Amino acid sequence: MKAREHWSSGLGFVLAAAGSAIGLGNIWKFPYITGENGGGAFVLIYLICILVIGMPVMLCEITLGRHTQRNPVGAFRAVSPGSSVFAHLIGILVVLGGLIMLVFGSWGWGALLLVIGALIFRFGWTMAGAMGVMSGFVILSFYSVVAGWTIGYIWKALAGSLSFNTVSEAGAYFKVYSTNPWWGIGCHGLFMIMCIMIIYKGVRRGIERWSKILMPVLLLLLVVLIVRGLTLEGAVEGVRFYLTPDFSKIGARSVLIALGHAFFSLSLGMGAMITYGSYVSREENIFRSTLFICILDTAIAIMAGLAIFPAVFAFGFEPGTGPGLAFQVLPAVFHQIPAGSLWAALFFLLLLVAALTSGISLLEVVTAYFVDERRWSRHRAAMFFGFVIFLIGIPCSLSIHGWERVEWLHVPLVKVFQVSQASFFDFMDDLASNWMLPLGGLLISLFVGWIWGTKKAIEEIRHGSRNFADVHLVALLAGLRDDPSHNSPIHVLTLASLWGIFIRFISPVAVTIAFLFTVGWLKL
Ligand code: TRP
Repeated sequence: MKAREHWSSGLGFVLAAAGSAIGLGNIWKFPYITGENGGGAFVLIYLICILVIGMPVMLCEITLGRHTQRNPVGAFRAVSPGSSVFAHLIGILVVLGGLIMLVFGSWGWGALLLVIGALIFRFGWTMAGAMGVMSGFVILSFYSVVAGWTIGYIWKALAGSLSFNTVSEAGAYFKVYSTNPWWGIGCHGLFMIMCIMIIYKGVRRGIERWSKILMPVLLLLLVVLIVRGLTLEGAVEGVRFYLTPDFSKIGARSVLIALGHAFFSLSLGMGAMITYGSYVSREENIFRSTLFICILDTAIAIMAGLAIFPAVFAFGFEPGTGPGLAFQVLPAVFHQIPAGSLWAALFFLLLLVAALTSGISLLEVVTAYFVDERRWSRHRAAMFFGFVIFLIGIPCSLSIHGWERVEWLHVPLVKVFQVSQASFFDFMDDLASNWMLPLGGLLISLFVGWIWGTKKAIEEIRHGSRNFADVHLVALLAGLRDDPSHNSPIHVLTLASLWGIFIRFISPVAVTIAFLFTVGWLKL
């Protein structure tokens, strides 16, 4: 067997993983959910979620990946326990749930649960990895549609056709544009081709090389846009709106949003970080890498708001327009700025760059699975599954403003699964973001915390990061890090022990509570 390809350096890994994390979630979504949920107060809650749940779970994924040197399915399989009593138990419970659904609820979901339960019974924890690979298909199919719009909008901006005086003009244009199948599907296809070409080239010459080029470009574009925004007259209002803490807007709901977004933004819950971690060598300090990735991701998210809101306020536009912000408000804003087309093109280029380094990580999960477990060649896997995801994305694109044009899909989905989402696009988004990712995150932290065990995990983490993991936090805070009296065998508090506690108790409990809200067993 060929030796597994590895990142050429620690920096290469951090940039690739940060590239995966930094995406549409940071630049398109984070600013508007922050604007809607109490500004600075929301940022604070978000930071806590990253620190207490995001970072520990990311370390879990990277550790599991590096230890096993496998894709998510292979990783779970490699360290699964010999006894499968637990898996059998869960499998039986899911089958029972399926039977109940069959009798009292929907036969579609019931039948699905029966199948899933049987698979869990048979394959155990490996199924958690399989769900990750499936999430790759689901997420990339709708993610690529949005990423595709940015390609079209760069083109449109350069051609000078994004000249709107009002937001409603821009909104009407966006609707026409995004429902045009040639633009929608064409640009989605173009984006998938870019992803395929990078993944085709492999870990070093594809993912790492392009992340090293694209991430600095992203930072540069963002800084240029921030400077432009902040130097406009009346920009301060925007900063004030964006970051002034308003605790009256914070409730259980915003905490849930912050937690869900922390997962999505850090690319957690589906094994993307297991996969990227599997290309990390033993000498790397993965504790430190995790820290860097999380800091980069969070910093870019916060910065994105600083690029957007000052400009929005400088020209007196409404900020609270939700998801439409990027494609409906900003074009109108840019039109007010001298050389606006150029600024608009730069902004959409920024979005595209961010989306591309994330898109490739999603395709890589799928590719790695077929390469490792099914012995496909990388070239074949990247092209074939890239194409499959392109096909799944077509109905997402067609249904963006409603089901009308995909009734053939809508009718069976309603009959079998009683879907109630506004479109196929929303259905896929909801399926991944609210169900598969949180469930995946829960399973990963339970698995590492309790099944594989934090003890073995920490052994893996210590390769390359011994000093880091074992620093006594209390001693560190007191400035006594190397003081001999703190080398006592009694464990005070180290990063390692803190991580163990977070991963065994805090993350699973927090994610479970969030999940119960989603399922509807807990109500706001
Ligand atoms: N993190 C990316 C963003 O913020 C999206 C993404 C890429 C992702 N890979 C992922 C989300 C894996 C969840 C899981 O846009």
